[in-house]
Amino acid sequence: MHRMKIQFCFIFVTFLTSFTSIPLTHATSRYYRTLAGGHRQGGSTKFNEQPLAEIAIYEAVLALHEDASVKASPNVLGLKGEDTEWVTIQVDHPEPSPDDWVAVFSPAQFNGSTCSYEDYTRIQPPYICSSPIKFMNVSYENPDYVNTGKSLLRLQIINQRSDFSFALFSGGYSKPELKAVSNTITFANPKAPLYPRLALGKSWDEMTVTWSSGYNIDEAVPFVEWAMKGHHQAQSRSPAGTLTFTQNDMCGGAARGVGWRDPGFIHTAFLKNLWPNMVYMYRMGHMLQNGEYVWSKTYSFKASPYPGQDSLQRVIIFGDMGKGERDGSNAYSNKHPGAINTTDTLIKDLENYDIVLHIGDMSYANGYISQWDQFLAQMEPISSKVPYMVASGNHERDWPNSGSFYDVDDSGGECGVPAETLFYVPAENRAKFWYSMDYGMFHFCVADTEHDWRIGTEQYAFIEKCLASANRHKQPWLIFVAHRVLGYSSNEWYGLEGSFEEPMGREHLQHLWQKYKVDIAFFGHVHNYERVCPIYQNQCVNNEKSHYSGTVNGTIHIVAGGGGSHLSDFSELDTVWSIYKDHDFGFVKLTAFNQSSLLMEYKKSSDGEVYDSFTITREYKDVLACVHDGCEPVTLAA
Ligand SMILES: [Fe+2]
Repeated sequence: MHRMKIQFCFIFVTFLTSFTSIPLTHATSRYYRTLAGGHRQGGSTKFNEQPLAEIAIYEAVLALHEDASVKASPNVLGLKGEDTEWVTIQVDHPEPSPDDWVAVFSPAQFNGSTCSYEDYTRIQPPYICSSPIKFMNVSYENPDYVNTGKSLLRLQIINQRSDFSFALFSGGYSKPELKAVSNTITFANPKAPLYPRLALGKSWDEMTVTWSSGYNIDEAVPFVEWAMKGHHQAQSRSPAGTLTFTQNDMCGGAARGVGWRDPGFIHTAFLKNLWPNMVYMYRMGHMLQNGEYVWSKTYSFKASPYPGQDSLQRVIIFGDMGKGERDGSNAYSNKHPGAINTTDTLIKDLENYDIVLHIGDMSYANGYISQWDQFLAQMEPISSKVPYMVASGNHERDWPNSGSFYDVDDSGGECGVPAETLFYVPAENRAKFWYSMDYGMFHFCVADTEHDWRIGTEQYAFIEKCLASANRHKQPWLIFVAHRVLGYSSNEWYGLEGSFEEPMGREHLQHLWQKYKVDIAFFGHVHNYERVCPIYQNQCVNNEKSHYSGTVNGTIHIVAGGGGSHLSDFSELDTVWSIYKDHDFGFVKLTAFNQSSLLMEYKKSSDGEVYDSFTITREYKDVLACVHDGCEPVTLAA
């Protein structure tokens, strides 16, 4: 206890010298709540999707209790190279209350001396200027705490490039009173290279590896060491580029304020001249100035098929996943109840698919940058093994007056910077998140609904060029992907608007889908599953429900936004074009058996079983055949 008090005094020296218990003015706190908390979808206000935003950390006051204590163990994590560990937190509080909670801070020293935000000039110091990276009610799994004042908590901590401390607050989340702070704990190597995510490069024979570390280029040289499995003598090393972003790169809100956290360094290496279908082993390395190396674990991936290659190819598609908490932290405001289920179901099935498309709204960090690491850690078993291709959603990009098509605050001030830095995508310009992608017999056109797509725009020109560039003899399966629903959805808020889509969506794009005979258009944003008939201009083009064949008369639309974030309700209005609806968490799997046979399956996250499916069977001539608004010009000249 004595040692804890000494450490506590050290940490809070600036508090103790100038502390005032007067919290922020009501008007100021409301301002920040609005910035951090507002969320709109389709014109209606929804609850906040970032649990950390519920904590009014800027209103915290110092109310140390000399007999209260928090103790964390072990002191050093990752001694065997682990990137995550479970930590035990022992809480002792002589005046316990049901709304006592524990905050995890990283860096461990979270006092006001590290504050430097121009946005916060109106706030009276001293203050806590950084949000915790996670939190847990002290009574969680210990209901006796309110009687005994004693609780043991188990929290899962991941390596996030800094040390950790655990603080006991009373007063709930809206009026936090700081009672005690724990010892500091740390990972053995906080800078370790972690959380690899694979992505296809701009060429079919290129795989990119992106990872995070604490090593700047002045300190160590980043690279990937790789070799074809079973051919270690032919080992290669590919250099990596290094990027990062700063607080000043954030556009406002939580991202520039209490949610800011240093993202470390983000490295990308380009592994080139890959042999199609071959398995490669790889690991990330950093060469230190003294010549020593720091290595990651060893991972493997299978190189992409040659474009047009006729072989089994399987694709997973979902949107709107979010981050889950295996330790139950943030439990009283879990906004992404399906995230862990979807992740675990996909991990179990890793051998049975080749590539993943996460079509926007990934971590829902919403300006709380620490959440991105935690999301990357959650997805690592998948993203380190198969290409993890992402699209941009409103929760990655939107911020008022920042160039997003929607002038709303859904990104919490990130304005796209973390997403476009943490993930590589083969776009010309990652700040404009649209790109094309070849995978064997598939050709994907990934749009960015957070930028204008209407006729005459730069993105519209890209979409047409992308759709036109598929040689349907070699790449028969043409897939359009976007985050918001530009096609059809009978979701509640689209129903209320009477559009069953984002306004100006299909009006501008449906003639392109028709002209280029897009097979399936996938969307997220709406947190459920829905399959729509092959459709053009609001008319189903046939009555089939499970097997399609022959000419491509219309595009099938699928909403696959049930990745894990809270579910969206369907409209009560009847929509004749809707074939299957599911108000549950799930994802889609596309299986191309060959050039003429495709299977679509919808699986629930809870059991991985198929709940909806259809097949497409057809030949090349069927794609070439003339259909309404989809005919090539012909001449009678011989
Ligand atoms: Fe969204």
